[in-house]
Amino acid sequence: MTSQTIPVEPFDLVVFGATGDLAERKLLPALYQRQLAGQYSEPTRMIGCSRSELTDDQYRAFAREAIEHHVAKAEIDEDELSRFLARIFYVPADARSGKGLEQLGQVLGESHAVRAFYLAVAPALFGDIVHRINEHGLVMPTSRVIVEKPIGHSLETAQQVNDAIGEVFDEARIFRIDHYLGKETVQNLMALRFGNALYEPLWNSAHVDHVQITVAESVGLESRAGYYDKAGALRDMVQNHILQLLCLVAMEAPASLDADAMRDEKLKVLRALKPIGPQNTERVTVRGQYRAGASNGGAVKGYLDELDDGASNTETFVALKAEIGNWRWAGVPFYLRTGKRLAARASEIVIQFKPIPHSIFGDAAGPVFANQLVIRLQPDEGVKQWIMIKDPGPGGMRLRHVPLDMTFAESFKVRNPDAYERLIMDVIRGNQTLFMRRDEVEAAWRWIDPIVAAWEERSQAVQGYTAGTWGPSASIALIERDGRTWHESV
Ligand code: BG6
Repeated sequence: MTSQTIPVEPFDLVVFGATGDLAERKLLPALYQRQLAGQYSEPTRMIGCSRSELTDDQYRAFAREAIEHHVAKAEIDEDELSRFLARIFYVPADARSGKGLEQLGQVLGESHAVRAFYLAVAPALFGDIVHRINEHGLVMPTSRVIVEKPIGHSLETAQQVNDAIGEVFDEARIFRIDHYLGKETVQNLMALRFGNALYEPLWNSAHVDHVQITVAESVGLESRAGYYDKAGALRDMVQNHILQLLCLVAMEAPASLDADAMRDEKLKVLRALKPIGPQNTERVTVRGQYRAGASNGGAVKGYLDELDDGASNTETFVALKAEIGNWRWAGVPFYLRTGKRLAARASEIVIQFKPIPHSIFGDAAGPVFANQLVIRLQPDEGVKQWIMIKDPGPGGMRLRHVPLDMTFAESFKVRNPDAYERLIMDVIRGNQTLFMRRDEVEAAWRWIDPIVAAWEERSQAVQGYTAGTWGPSASIALIERDGRTWHESV
């Protein structure tokens, strides 16, 4: 079976920050893949903008290199690549001052194609850019804008960013990307929960013991010290990606996949998160910072050695015990953890069901483990339902804990698309289901801000952990205090 591709309307995608990291690593490869899939209608264009003085051809050369570097060799089709490059144009522009926007207007012309502006630039520039493109008459009634995190640094700054964008674009035309929502397995979580009658009756505090969400990375700072040292793991990963995953696990069934139906339900979860503040931060949060160690097969520096001034109390790891104060989840802890320079790149959601109430099997049968649903985001995306079965064969009754593997990419013979492929096409379709609404972003900050404030107030220091491990031992203690243990992620 192959996947079906439904072409989208013709569009002009204007990318500000076209020579930046996001465009190079994610946007250009994703746009090329959609060319390969045959998703474009004519005339569709991508117009790169940045301050570098490049010609169309020079930018096409940049795009070719990006694609050749970030797309698997087997997926490079020279004819399709040439067709894709022919869609690309470039306009040198400084959107802050407005320089170059007149020329951009000429390139865009009177086209009736869907027009989307991707702001792949620092959030400090969002406000200026939307105002400048508006002043130059480039924003049509159906134009949309795409922005990425970090949307603010706190509730207050997020409101400022949202206000600035909102002065030009109404909410229905603002697409706030959280690329975790576009990941294939995250989509599968929705299918699993709401496309089956099996799980939903068990999806509550009567049957679920606890939930774990781990987003572990093996990479370190990756030359992002300027941003990361001011953000830290809580703001960089928890405020957005991890809370979004938590929402998808915990939300009530929306009436439909309609964008607002989904986002209303996610918002309710965010609002039901029990506050963490000075009263409990030391008990339910752990902050870590990596020290020198070994990662990806080689020796690596510690976090402080990667900084210019060698001093920082920024966390590169955080573990939290979150609770949702509603009927469905009362008393069910959600253990969240994320960090850089951990033992492996491994992200997963684990739904740990309660143990059976009574075992009819004797000791000889071996232990009876509680069921577990493991949704693996990366690498090796997949879903496994762990169950107990009888050890096959003659002899006495012995039990085995085995995974029912629900990973279907292999059997369906499809490539797992990158999140950006799905998300950019959704922008063109005008479908906001997988994008964050303003109130969601702000509700997430409302929960995060008091944690940051409590850390400051209580001077909660970071605890060192050796690069290449699973974080500080306090993170293990956090969950083991409750008689539970982190799922072995590799
Ligand atoms: C980004 C964070 O949002 O997500 C990065 O800013 C992080 O620090 C990245 O490395 C992780 O994304 P992925 O898709 O590689 O898990």
